[in-house]
Amino acid sequence: MWRKRRLSRNKRPRTLRSAVIVALVLATGAWVYAEFIYQPVIFGLRDDFVHAVPNQQVPEGLTSLSAESCGQCHREIYEEWRTSIHSQAHVDPYYQAYWKKDKNIWICQNCHTPLQNQQPLIVSGMKNGKIQHPITTPNPEYDPELQQEGITCAACHVRDGVIYGPYADSDAPHPTGYDPKYRTTEICYWCHQVPSGPFQFYNGGPCATFLEFEGGPYAKRGYTCQSCHMPAAQRPAAEGGPMRDTRRHLWRGGHFPEMIKQALQVRLTNPGGDWQTGDKVDFQLRMTNGGAGHKIPTGDPDRHFTILFEEIGPDGEVVASKKHQIGRWLIWKPIIIELYENRIPPLEHRDYHYKVAAKPGHTLKVTVKYHIVTKRAKRMLIKKFDLPAAVVDHFVLFEQEVDLGAGSIQQMSAAGA
Ligand code: HEC
Ligand code: HEC
Ligand code: HEC
Ligand code: HEC
Ligand code: HEC
Repeated sequence: MWRKRRLSRNKRPRTLRSAVIVALVLATGAWVYAEFIYQPVIFGLRDDFVHAVPNQQVPEGLTSLSAESCGQCHREIYEEWRTSIHSQAHVDPYYQAYWKKDKNIWICQNCHTPLQNQQPLIVSGMKNGKIQHPITTPNPEYDPELQQEGITCAACHVRDGVIYGPYADSDAPHPTGYDPKYRTTEICYWCHQVPSGPFQFYNGGPCATFLEFEGGPYAKRGYTCQSCHMPAAQRPAAEGGPMRDTRRHLWRGGHFPEMIKQALQVRLTNPGGDWQTGDKVDFQLRMTNGGAGHKIPTGDPDRHFTILFEEIGPDGEVVASKKHQIGRWLIWKPIIIELYENRIPPLEHRDYHYKVAAKPGHTLKVTVKYHIVTKRAKRMLIKKFDLPAAVVDHFVLFEQEVDLGAGSIQQMSAAGA
């Protein structure tokens, strides 16, 4: 009796005290998270892109910085650039939707519209070093039309009134300067090696294309990014100029199925040889990275491949199926942790097996797709951030059907790479 009374007498203040302690701990935790751990963007900062390229003046002899004006004399290069993703880096609907999701934070512009002339505000620093508190002044030289051009010619070529390039002997109506970096990977590193920030645990960085390339088999053989992404062409560099070793300004990548097929070889075989009705047949799909100097997929963590095996019955119904994915698996909140990845490094391959009982009238169908974003991310971007619903989000790279009644693979039905 005595014991019981004592307990009930003390119960209230003790509960209250623990509640206060818990609330304090939670509040402190939330404050520490918001102040020190939470990162408003999925990458860290580096000196070379933390500032925009300072405002540039139109070089002597020219009338404008716009790509179209360069195209008066560099017609072919301009036409190539215009079809490239670099020219879309600002208007790209995926960029616009994700930028909106990130509350149009300033830092994105330094790689997607890297010239200060393309940005309405000049960022001179950050309060307390925090990216979400930029110190800004209006930019008197902001050119909204140039902003639409994304990674425009001047972003890579114009500095302080001089047009820099790979030649030491050009004869041009504008000032020119020679810089060996145009023939090295240094010019791509600036934007294509995006580092991790504090409390972000990626295997290499959110987009670590350069890191995947460096030390790999292609880098060892003297390739640069340009070898594959800017194919060589013998032609005049400007209308009416002498023949030159030039490079086509195409930069094809994950938005172009033909380019992905150049990287990925897909082959379906049955290592056990011919079969008879009733046999359990073991099919093998080999995915080889035979043509990219880095992992496939590379870059943006949303990119992935899916592989789908389907057994189709006599009436066209799917009897059984199995799906595999090649990509990266990340936890995004409360901190970024890359749990696992199975992307394919250069010149390596990955095998997938599917076992099925051979039956006449049944078909095995194998489909390999490349996805620019996940279905879930696309739905979220459409619903909340105005991504146009019609935007392309995947390509079919390979499709093959095998008649399980046939006894062997008819290679004739293969399609794709
Ligand atoms: C009125 C014609 C004209 C216009 C406009 C023009 N260029 Fe040129 N440019 C030339 C000529 C001619 C050459 C020299 C070609 C040669 O020597 O083979 C040249 C050379 C170059 C080179 C090579 C420089 C080097 O030494 O390596 C680059 C890069 C270049 N231009 C970029 C641009 C850019 C960017 C623009 C627009 C901002 C532009 N050009 C506008 C005519 C023009
Ligand atoms: C992402 C950076 C980048 C952009 C954007 C870019 N270039 Fe280039 N440009 C290069 C590189 C790298 C080279 C060196 C290619 C080589 O090795 O020949 C080059 C070379 C050139 C040359 C010399 C000829 C040649 O192919 O080597 C000219 C002229 C030129 N660019 C004009 C332009 C024009 C005009 C635009 C816009 C329509 C433009 N560039 C956009 C990176 C860029
Ligand atoms: C100023 C920053 C910048 C520089 C310099 C730059 N890139 Fe890019 N690059 C980008 C951005 C941003 C995108 C994505 C644009 C988009 O999809 O919105 C891109 C896209 C690409 C793609 C296509 C990816 C796809 O999704 O299809 C390739 C390939 C590529 N770049 C290669 C290169 C190479 C090679 C170089 C060096 C010669 C280079 N880039 C230099 C910023 C840059
Ligand atoms: C041996 C040829 C080769 C070399 C070297 C190479 N690439 Fe690629 N790259 C490819 C092929 C093929 C693809 C298409 C496959 C894909 O998109 O996954 C590709 C895709 C890409 C993409 C598209 C990724 C996306 O998000 O869709 C980017 C960006 C890229 N490369 C940048 C680079 C950079 C930067 C370098 C130099 C550090 C480089 N590449 C070196 C062949 C090459
Ligand atoms: C350090 C340079 C850099 C910065 C900063 C940067 N990006 Fe990019 N971004 C790239 C490059 C390079 C690519 C293309 C190649 C790849 O997939 O890695 C790209 C691709 C993208 C893509 C994929 C486009 C497509 O069509 O699939 C989106 C979306 C994107 N960036 C959004 C953003 C947003 C939003 C920010 C700011 C929070 C940002 N980027 C900041 C360099 C940068």
